[in-house]
Amino acid sequence: MFKSARIKLTLWYLLMIMAISVIFSLIIYRVQVSESERILQRQRVRIESGGFLRPGFGPAPLEPEILEEARNRLKLNLILINLGVLIVSGGAAYFLAGRTLKPIEEAVEDQKRFVADASHELRTPLTTMKTELEVNLRGKGFGQEAKKILESNLEEVDKLSYLSDKLLRLSRYEQKEGLVFSPVSLNEVVEEVIKKLSGLTKSKKIEIVKNLEEVNIQGDFAALAEGFGTILDNAVKYSPKESKVNVDLQSKDGKTVVKIQDFGVGIKNSELPHIFDRFYRADASRTKEKVEGFGLGLSIAKAAIEKHHGKIEVESTPGKGSTFTVTLPTA
Ligand SMILES: Nc1ncnc2c1ncn2[C@@H]1O[C@H](COP(=O)(O)OP(=O)(O)OP(=O)(O)O)[C@@H](O)[C@H]1O
Ligand SMILES: [Mg+2]
Repeated sequence: MFKSARIKLTLWYLLMIMAISVIFSLIIYRVQVSESERILQRQRVRIESGGFLRPGFGPAPLEPEILEEARNRLKLNLILINLGVLIVSGGAAYFLAGRTLKPIEEAVEDQKRFVADASHELRTPLTTMKTELEVNLRGKGFGQEAKKILESNLEEVDKLSYLSDKLLRLSRYEQKEGLVFSPVSLNEVVEEVIKKLSGLTKSKKIEIVKNLEEVNIQGDFAALAEGFGTILDNAVKYSPKESKVNVDLQSKDGKTVVKIQDFGVGIKNSELPHIFDRFYRADASRTKEKVEGFGLGLSIAKAAIEKHHGKIEVESTPGKGSTFTVTLPTA
């Protein structure tokens, strides 16, 4: 993200410097040309009026060819100067853009580290609370009413653990430090994800139709599984019962393309640009059947896929379904 911002800023700096340099060059050129034309005109008038011009007694007559040559030389010099300015200021602009963005980059990294640390710190007390609640629920010391309250507390604690876990992983994928890459079989990743979701697919009687080519890439198994898991989880979550989800994995021209197509609620065009934002949930997921979630899944998937130099695209028609396409470079 900061690399492209640095390049954009460099181009803006460069554009400004070059605009000034070119404007000045044009002014210099115009002034020189009109000055020499004025001298030539004056000499012509003097010669025509019988004025005497000898070496040592005034400026030598300016031939139009000499004048043309001088103009061309000036043009060439100005072009060379501008090229020099372009190269030198290009380097300087890149350096300055880096210096300008450094504090912002550091602040963003700090913020991500804070989220990671905070979510990490939340895990221990939440685990303790969960254990204590479970022990008390199993014990005989509480009445029916109290147990209901404890159960509801346990549900909330589970939600909080899930949230802190998601936040922790999101900040991990978004941080600068990379994941550890090794050869990974992408079809195995997808198979694993489908297996993990079998409980949900069975309960909704959703059929997953797979068409998986064998593909190996360099990557992090867990992060890839998380990315594809989220997209597939959504496909199942936002599909009606007894529907179908197509999963297609193909590799060609150095690229691996994974398509996950569902025939569910779909996403409105106006909501599409936001679904990868943190905590964003489209209207369809809040109303109707009310699907649980925090709106974090796709931002985690995007971060995990981008860590692998890949991208996620989505096409969707409300009421008809959505297709998520993940493109990854094949090692
Ligand atoms: N396959 C899909 N079909 C329809 N809507 C979808 C689909 N995938 C994502 N969405 C919409 O995009 C929103 C964001 O998805 P995201 O996975 O980030 O969050 P979530 O599923 O609501 O919660 P969670 O954090 O549990 O994943 C969802 O709330 C949903 O409205
Ligand atoms: Mg989700």
